[in-house]
Amino acid sequence: MTAAVGLYLRLDLPPPWHPATTPTPLIIYGASSAVGFYTLQFALRSNIHPLICIAGRAQDHVKPHLDASKGDTVIDYREGDEAVVKGIKDALKGEKLWYAFDAVSEKGSYQNICQVLEPQGGKITLVLPGKEYEGIPEGVENSVTRVGCVHGEEADKDFGYVFFRLIARGLQEGWFRAQPQEVVPGGLGGVQQALENLKAGKASAVKYVFRIGETEGVKREGSL
Ligand SMILES: NC(=O)c1ccc[n+]([C@@H]2O[C@H](COP(=O)([O-])OP(=O)(O)OC[C@H]3O[C@@H](n4cnc5c(N)ncnc54)[C@H](OP(=O)(O)O)[C@@H]3O)[C@@H](O)[C@H]2O)c1
Repeated sequence: MTAAVGLYLRLDLPPPWHPATTPTPLIIYGASSAVGFYTLQFALRSNIHPLICIAGRAQDHVKPHLDASKGDTVIDYREGDEAVVKGIKDALKGEKLWYAFDAVSEKGSYQNICQVLEPQGGKITLVLPGKEYEGIPEGVENSVTRVGCVHGEEADKDFGYVFFRLIARGLQEGWFRAQPQEVVPGGLGGVQQALENLKAGKASAVKYVFRIGETEGVKREGSL
């Protein structure tokens, strides 16, 4: 839902039922993250290309979904900021960049994007509410995507209603896939270690799942 809000409500890109008919370069920064991977899948459904995806260790999770004939590409953030900016410029092949979905919003991500995004009229959406995003050019329309908005204003609630159902159908039909999951042993007892893994950047294209019933001391239904 975060991906849908960012792409369609904040960046105002064409929805899946009215896909793009002209090349529309889009940066997905953090394409192997959960938010980024869902953004990628919706972008494909909306025929948005070329997709310029920034990923690292898990880029093989992203690559099979890209269409090189439409200019889609992956750039490895581990090669450093300069290489990322150059990679984006090369991928654009002289085209202007109007849209960026920054699913990382830290570690220099939006600064890299802003070196390439159109300084007058370019749009970037970011995912960390409450953060000061300094240095974004004044002419760039920047927004913060908050998934919680679909529980707020009526119009956004309607948007959420439609997209939750579309996601369900996408899962059923197979064009929308869940990020891989890993069940952490020990239920809630595993939260500390999992959070430490997240903080240390060890979670690569994976979502952690905690089965509360597996927590030590929690009684299972039917048990004494
Ligand atoms: N505002 C909202 O409503 C909302 C909702 C959901 C999430 N969020 C935020 O969105 C962010 C992403 O959440 P998530 O659950 O999608 O995270 P996640 O799946 O845990 O993200 C991990 C991924 O981030 C990638 N990554 C790390 N550093 C990167 C960098 N410098 N450049 C590019 N990719 C990088 C890693 O790629 P590799 O493995 O390929 O190296 C890794 O696969 C988090 O900050 C989260 O708090 C906001």
